[in-house]
Amino acid sequence: METQYNTNEQEAARQKEIMERLKVRIAALSESLGRPLTYCSVCFGCQMNAKDSEKLEGILETIGYVRTESEEADFLIMNTCTVRENANLRVYGRLGQLKKYKKKNPNMMIALCGCMMQESLVVEKIKQSYRHVDIIFGTHNVFKLAELIERRLDAKGMVIDIWEGTDEIVEDLPSERKYPFKCGVNIMFGCNNFCSYCIVPYVRGRERSRKPEDILAEIRALVADGVVEVMLLGQNVNSYGKNLEHPISFAELLRQVEQIEGLRRIRFMTSHPKDLSDELIAVMAASTKICRHLHLPVQSGSTKVLKDMNRRYTKEDYLNLVSRIRAAMPDISLTTDIIVGFPTETEKDFEDTLDIVRKVRYDSAFTFIYSKRTGTPAAAMEAAADEETVKKRFDRLLSEVQEIAKETCGRYQGETVEVLVEGVDEQDHRLLTGRLSNNLLVHFPGEKELIGTFQQVKLTEARGFYYIGERK
Ligand code: SAH
Ligand code: SF4
Ligand code: F3S
Repeated sequence: METQYNTNEQEAARQKEIMERLKVRIAALSESLGRPLTYCSVCFGCQMNAKDSEKLEGILETIGYVRTESEEADFLIMNTCTVRENANLRVYGRLGQLKKYKKKNPNMMIALCGCMMQESLVVEKIKQSYRHVDIIFGTHNVFKLAELIERRLDAKGMVIDIWEGTDEIVEDLPSERKYPFKCGVNIMFGCNNFCSYCIVPYVRGRERSRKPEDILAEIRALVADGVVEVMLLGQNVNSYGKNLEHPISFAELLRQVEQIEGLRRIRFMTSHPKDLSDELIAVMAASTKICRHLHLPVQSGSTKVLKDMNRRYTKEDYLNLVSRIRAAMPDISLTTDIIVGFPTETEKDFEDTLDIVRKVRYDSAFTFIYSKRTGTPAAAMEAAADEETVKKRFDRLLSEVQEIAKETCGRYQGETVEVLVEGVDEQDHRLLTGRLSNNLLVHFPGEKELIGTFQQVKLTEARGFYYIGERK
């Protein structure tokens, strides 16, 4: 692990110098080939990873690579996720494919980064069986991509740079935004919660909050550049700021973000129920910019399972929290994550999960079958149910969740609401897609010049999880 950096300003400046040098080398290579060099960026996992990929893309664009969607690129970077086993399997599958492309194109470089690379067994496996990989790094040193490319160009063989953790937050490097009008903003990194099933604290390290002044400066700059909506990102935003030299609450940060002129919408992800304060509910209720949507992962409805999961709330605590939120904001949309088949889950525990779903009536829920992650406390627990039983529970839960979501999502039919136009509908190019404050989508006829603007749209027809509408 390298920790010789003094200040992150120095480190950012050093990386920018390397980018300047690489710019010259990439330009020369591209001239000798008589074509631009291309990069393809593949990202698995959550919004944190998506944000990291934007940073990686920013570096690649700065040094002169041109984006392509084809994996037959000169530089392929895969940002990996390891939250569930199937995320890992997808990466190995893709890597097999890439070998063929590399044979055709000797200039091709393949880089792997992200959460999966923080697991030493994974890196060992790649070293043994996937020798065509050029660069491997993890979650703590995304800012170093240019330096690692330079090292690879100067050396033969795989370049591997994995840090076990870091105290550094390197600010102010390039980032390539996916949308001109909305953007994710990291407010914290890592996680200290150690839910017993979850690998994230091991691969993302301890919780570190960015200073509020850095966050506010970044958002002001984004707004000056045309951004109207920000999504504040953290594994548990409700514990933001607790470990800063001058501690500040997440609710207070939101108050300050709200003051930024020109910013129209604020979203955030994810909220851990145990830390959601009444102060936050009050700030949300009084806000005109914070969207009417709260993603509040419940994971299970059984107090016993929640205890085994180390979630630190009971079924009653959660329901009580939902009541307080709804009392303050009756129109709020609640969404959640649920795990089925946690090792200690019995039929009775699962029925508690169905019960909480029926009581809360989520607008949508991400449901997952429990996946054993090596090194987590739950991996040592014995399973109470077999695979088939768990699969049946999963299907029962899914149909319950979907039925409720269809009913709850339709509740605004006939209303006229403000939406942010995000793009052209992928299925029907005559339609635009707009997002409501509560995160639901509406498709309506319109010209693509409206993308990035706010429009008043009448929700004429509820179609399950989205609406058809018309502009007012
Ligand atoms: N920090 C966020 C969640 C990050 S992971 C939070 O606490 O809400 C996203 C979701 O993946 C989790 O909410 C959980 O439902 C699911 N998940 C995490 N580990 C898992 C595992 N081992 N098996 C199945 N699902 C898991
Ligand atoms: Fe994982 Fe729990 Fe941290 Fe979320 S809060 S990332 S589920 S350990
Ligand atoms: Fe996956 Fe890492 Fe996010 S494990 S869910 S990409 S923090």
